[in-house]
Amino acid sequence: MEKRLIIAIDGYSSCGKSTFARLIAKELNYIFIDSGAMYRAVTLFCMRKNYINYRSLNTSAILSEINNIRIDFVFNPDLNEYETFLNSENVEKEIRGMEVTAHVSKISQIHEVRERMVELQRQISVSEGIVMDGRDIGTVVFPHADIKIFMTASLDIRAKRRHSELKNKGVNIDFDEIKRSIIARDIADENRDISPLKRADDAIVLDNSRMTVDEQMLWIKQIINNKRNGS
Ligand code: DC
Repeated sequence: MEKRLIIAIDGYSSCGKSTFARLIAKELNYIFIDSGAMYRAVTLFCMRKNYINYRSLNTSAILSEINNIRIDFVFNPDLNEYETFLNSENVEKEIRGMEVTAHVSKISQIHEVRERMVELQRQISVSEGIVMDGRDIGTVVFPHADIKIFMTASLDIRAKRRHSELKNKGVNIDFDEIKRSIIARDIADENRDISPLKRADDAIVLDNSRMTVDEQMLWIKQIINNKRNGS
């Protein structure tokens, strides 16, 4: 039987990591985990309890409840997609909103939150084959992943993609504001003390600024074939 692979996709926000990872998982019939959704779900939990707002962050309250936060990915057959559940509630839509996006960098900087997320991510059965996307998957979560991809794209392209994604959802936000939010998240991701975003030494860089999704899929299929053929 063909070996089931661990595929780690890391990179900057709004590069299309999750779209790419989801498609690879579908193609291979593997499990797909959007690790960013887990940090977003923790953030939503903290916002609802008012442990984080625009003025303050109550780290000790968050830590005292960290083990009460349950995150599941539940398959929705109508959408043919997995959706994120926080303590049994479907929060898929809410965690993608601007408010969660504004707070998530702060939550993902908390050492104990990261430790807990990494623990949960490693508990997911890898024997079935897995594609996981995030910031530290190839460096921290699965340093022995079979394939590691580091995704990037130009700032303008990322902002344009995010702008049209939000527009399609009926959210109208100024283009420059989106750009500023992407820059702020890059700075937070690259400069946090623990598990900052960085390319693993053995990761292959994918700059998809000028690539369609189909071109990216052809590219990754070649890499998977090479891996399987031992070249
Ligand atoms: O991929 P995303 O934009 O949904 O991720 C949300 C936030 O979570 C992002 O600001 C960085 C953080 N994150 C992280 O620190 N480590 C991960 N493995 C995934 C996401």
